[in-house]
Formats: sequence, structure tokens, C-alpha cells
Amino acid sequence: MGPPGVGKGTQSNRLAAAFAVPIVASGDMFREIRKQDTPLAAEVRQYMDRGEYVPDDLTIAMVLDRLRAPDTENGYVLDGFPRTVAQAEALDAAFDGTSRAIDHVILLKAPLETVLARLTGRRICSNCGAVYNLSSNPPEVEGQCDVCGGALFQRTDETPQVQRYRLGVFDRQTKPVIAYYKVKGRLEMVDATPPVDAVTEQLLNRVRGSADAK
Ligand code: AP5
Repeated sequence: MGPPGVGKGTQSNRLAAAFAVPIVASGDMFREIRKQDTPLAAEVRQYMDRGEYVPDDLTIAMVLDRLRAPDTENGYVLDGFPRTVAQAEALDAAFDGTSRAIDHVILLKAPLETVLARLTGRRICSNCGAVYNLSSNPPEVEGQCDVCGGALFQRTDETPQVQRYRLGVFDRQTKPVIAYYKVKGRLEMVDATPPVDAVTEQLLNRVRGSADAK
């Protein structure tokens, strides 16, 4: 968990690779849906482009369905879900007491100016999805992906107005989820201010440490 731009996608990719498990990222799932030519895609585009959350019923059904797929049997990394209390309750109700229940609820924390700078500098490959940052991780050739040569783009929800709006939505709708896990004594906090490798190291230590203890 964490505000837009704090590094959830970056770190969940690394965690998933380290544990050889899939990432279930609700934002990525919605970005796939929105490419289609369907009424659902049009609805999803409207919410995302305004920086609002997609309604809970749709989001919960989509993610829980994905978590029932056989490739999640040995574990998974959730990125961007749950981000409302209704989503957190639905996740608990669906998987509590099973081998699919979540082991760690990790909140990535960084100051507002850091997340705004990360959002503003983010560029994504239109072909392979690799994520860059103009200041912390720039591509070798401007506008071009180092991995596949694809063109880099900025997300449609990345205008300064929508960025601010998304941060406000996080405060209003996701901070209560942080409280929800805190009350249950399940919230773990990680400082996401250091460079990417240092944050990954903190996360791996935390997750590996608890796995060794089991
Ligand atoms: P989503 O795609 O989940 O967006 P988000 O939460 O706003 O988060 P971001 O993807 O913007 O940031 P991130 O934290 O992943 O940062 P990243 O690793 O890319 O959701 C988009 C939309 O989908 C929502 O607004 C909503 O409409 C809908 N949606 C999704 N889930 C939903 C749900 N559960 N319910 C309802 N609606 C939902 O990093 C950012 C940049 O910083 C990159 O350039 C990266 O290279 C750089 N960077 C990362 N870490 C570091 C570091 N340590 N040091 C320096 N640079 C860094």
C-alpha cells in the first residue's frame, strides 16, 4: 500500500521476481480493461482519467476472481488492492484462515514532495511496460525504452491536477484502510524515500525474515 507514485509498482515487481510469484495489480488490470472497446472499458476510463477509484463491486469481483487462478496458489504480491475499507473487508472475508490469506500488509511511506517528483518524472514503455524515471532512472535514449526500443509515454492520469486529486482520494479513501490494518496489529511500515535498491532490501529482509521464522 501507499500513495500514488511512492513506488508500489516498482517494488512489487521486484518482490514478485524474488519469490517467483505473480503480481496482482488492480491498476494494471484496469489499464488492460480500458484498452477495450466495451461499455465497461468506457466506464473504467472515466474513473481513472478523473483520478477516482473504480467502484468497489467491480474492483472486488475482478481482484478476487484473479486471486482464485491456479498461478496464485504458491503466493502472490498484491499491488494497489485493497484501497477502500470495503475492499479490505471483502479480502479478509474471502481468504481469512486459508493458505491464500495475506501474510504482510506493507505501507510504503515517503514525503509528499518525493511522491509528486516521482509521479512527474515517470515514463512507461508503450511496448513492454518497463517503468523509468527522468531523474532517478532515466532511459539511455530520451523517449525510448532501453529494453525493447518502444516509445515511452506518460499516463493519462498524470497531469498535475489529476495527480493532486489522486493524492486527495488516497487520503480520504485509503487512509481508513491503513487504520483498519493498524487496529488489527497487521500494518508494517517501510521507508520508501531511499533509492529503489535500498527499499527493495528492506522489503526482502522483512518478508524473508518472517518466512524463515515459520
Ligand atoms: P494504480 O496504477 O495502482 O496507481 P497509483 O496507486 O496511483 O500508483 P502509481 O502506479 O501511480 O504509483 P506507484 O506507487 O506504483 O509508483 P511506481 O512504482 O510506478 O491505479 C491507477 C488507477 O486505477 C486509480 O487511480 C484508480 O482509478 C484505479 N484503481 C486501481 N486500483 C484500484 C482499487 N483497488 N480500487 C479502485 N480503483 C482502483 O513509481 C513511480 C515513479 O517513481 C517511477 O518513475 C519509478 O521509477 C520512480 N521510483 C519508484 N521508487 C523509487 C525510489 N525508491 N527512488 C526513486 N525513484 C523511484
